[in-house]
Amino acid sequence: MNLARIRAAKAERQPIAMLTAYEAGFARVAAEAGVDAFLVGDSLGMVVQGRRDTLGVTVEEMAYHAAMVRRGAPDALVVADMPFLADATPERALDAAAALMQEGGADMVKLEGGAEKAAVVHALTTAGVPVCGHVGLLPQQVRKLGGYRVQGRDEAGARRILDDAAALERAGIDLLVVECVPRDLGRALSQAVDVPVIGIGAGPDTDGQVLVMHDMLGLNDRPPRFVRDFMPGAGSVGGAFAAYVEAVRHRAFPAEDESF
Ligand code: KIV
Repeated sequence: MNLARIRAAKAERQPIAMLTAYEAGFARVAAEAGVDAFLVGDSLGMVVQGRRDTLGVTVEEMAYHAAMVRRGAPDALVVADMPFLADATPERALDAAAALMQEGGADMVKLEGGAEKAAVVHALTTAGVPVCGHVGLLPQQVRKLGGYRVQGRDEAGARRILDDAAALERAGIDLLVVECVPRDLGRALSQAVDVPVIGIGAGPDTDGQVLVMHDMLGLNDRPPRFVRDFMPGAGSVGGAFAAYVEAVRHRAFPAEDESF
């Protein structure tokens, strides 16, 4: 899987199945089950390191985990998160991208934020770094937001998110993640931009889905509403990954009660 294939999937209306991954063994099994792309998310701070949020994760840790995922899934598209403040300036973002791509073997970096990140995205993309944007709920801003809440519920909030996506697209992103927004906004975003839009808690109408691997394997004792546990009845971890891919491909996930 590569960026051209991901773009073609949007054009052909074939939903893209993405999962987070943090190490080689699970990435290998997920790739064998048909997962199209992996996000080495800074969610590893919570699900792997046991922190209460993602803010303590470093660039070095992200590169370390990205390298493991790359070894486990050598042919998959691997996206690595810019951790908190690593993208605060174009210079810092370029240094972080070098670590994530050269040491971590990532194909692309992801950064959270909207129009205010356009200059950083432009600096990265003109230097040849493929960038995935991330709008809607921004977990790195949890201290400012005061919790993990659905974003873009009112008209002004939805407009802001659409404008942010447009600004990021003009700055050169190749992929966009949208987190925790109403289903209608997930659909509107996917129609508004040319780049593939991958939703998490954004309804079934985005160009693809991503879930935190630990959540869809039932390892979260307080999962958010948009999570489905794919383990029951799957028989194995590989079976759960295959069930996820199948559900995403047929837009059977997320269902109405897993959307906002
Ligand atoms: O870090 C992460 O896992 C993410 C997903 C929630 C999209 O950014």
